[in-house]
Amino acid sequence: MPHYHRLGSIPHKRHTQFRKPDGSLYSEQLFSTEGFSNDYSLLYHTWPPTQIIHTDEPVNVMPKVAEEKMLKHRSFEGFNIKAEDDFLKSRKPVLVNSDCHLVLAAPRQSMTDYFYKNADADEMIFIHEGSGTLTTQYGRLDFAYGDYLVIPRGTIYQVSFKDQHNRLLIVESFSPIRYPKKYLGKYGQLLEHSPYCERDIRTPQDLVTIDQEGDFLIKTKKKGILYGLHYARHPFDVVGWDGYCYPFAFSIHDFEPITGRVHQPPPVHLTFEANNFVVCSFCPRLYDYHPDAIPAPYNHSNIDSDEVLYYVDGDFMSRKNVTRGMITLHPAGIPHGPHPGAVEKSIGKKETQELAVMVDTFHPLQLTEEALAIENPGYTMSWAE
Ligand SMILES: [Fe+2]
Repeated sequence: MPHYHRLGSIPHKRHTQFRKPDGSLYSEQLFSTEGFSNDYSLLYHTWPPTQIIHTDEPVNVMPKVAEEKMLKHRSFEGFNIKAEDDFLKSRKPVLVNSDCHLVLAAPRQSMTDYFYKNADADEMIFIHEGSGTLTTQYGRLDFAYGDYLVIPRGTIYQVSFKDQHNRLLIVESFSPIRYPKKYLGKYGQLLEHSPYCERDIRTPQDLVTIDQEGDFLIKTKKKGILYGLHYARHPFDVVGWDGYCYPFAFSIHDFEPITGRVHQPPPVHLTFEANNFVVCSFCPRLYDYHPDAIPAPYNHSNIDSDEVLYYVDGDFMSRKNVTRGMITLHPAGIPHGPHPGAVEKSIGKKETQELAVMVDTFHPLQLTEEALAIENPGYTMSWAE
C-alpha cells in the first residue's frame, strides 16, 4: 500500500545491529509480497521467525468445483451458508478461478488456539455482520460492519469477534490487492478525484510484543492445503516495524460516491484492483439529476468479465426479490440489465440507500458444491415477462 507507516522501536539504519536490553540482537525480517521488487516492511522480532518445532499432517481444503463451465445468470442465498464455530471451517468458497476465490463465512468463535496465514493469497475480508479485532504482527485493527480488511498474503493473524453473529465475504486474491492505479499520483498519493483518501485508511495500532516460548500453531494455507506448523516462539514478538506492506482497514461507509447528471458507469464505484479482477462499492447516493435521467442502469454486455454482486443492505431498485447476503452472478457472454418494470419505477427517484460489493473477474468463475447448495432456482429466467 502506498503510504509509509511505523510502530514500535526500530533502529536508525536498516540492516544494522539492533540490540535488546540484554545486549543480544533482535531478528530483522523483510516482509513483501512481490519479492524485492515492490512495497515491503521491515519487522524486528525478539526471536528469529523460523523456529519450527514440529508439523501436523496436511489437510486438503481445496474448493470442490461442481460446475466448471456455464452460461446462465445465477443467484445464491449467501446467508444460507451454515455458521460454524471455527473461523477456518466456516470459510466456504463459492465462486472461484485462478485469480481469486470468493468465500462466504459465518464464524461463531474467535481464533484462540492457533494463528492463520494464507501463503498464496491476499485476503479482503468484508464485514457484513459482526465486529471485533484483527491482530497481526503489525498490531491491532478493530473492525465493524462495513469494513474491508485487506491482509497481504503471508501475514500471520488472529481474529476475535465480539459475539457469535458474524457474516463475512472474503476475497482471496492470488495477486496483491491494490488501490486502483487511476486514483494514484506519480508517487502513490491518492488523488483528489479518488472516492477515498489516506485519512480513510486505518492502519494497525497498539503494537504489543509477546515474548513467549512454547508451542504456537500457525495454520498455513498453500495451494489449497492447510499445513499445521508449530513454532517455538509466539509469532507476535515484534518490537517495531516500518514500511509500506501491512494490513489495513477501510470502511465502505467512507467511500464517497461519484454521481452525475446522467447514469455513471460502474468504474466510478471502483475500490480495489488486483490482477484480472476489481472490487467496487455501491453506496447510498443521490441519483442522476438530468431532468429526463433514468436512474436504473442500462442493459449491458459484460463481454469481458463475470459480474458478481453481493448485496449488503438497503433497497435494490434494479432487481426483484433481493435479500441481504444474496449474490448474483452475471457471466460474461450474455447481456443483463434491470428486471422488468425497474426502469420505469426508477424515474423521478432522487436517491438510493443501496449498499453492495461488486467483484468483476476478467476470467470466468467456477461454481462450487457450496454455491449450488444455496442457489436460488429460477433466476436465469427472471427477466421474462
Ligand atoms: Fe452489471
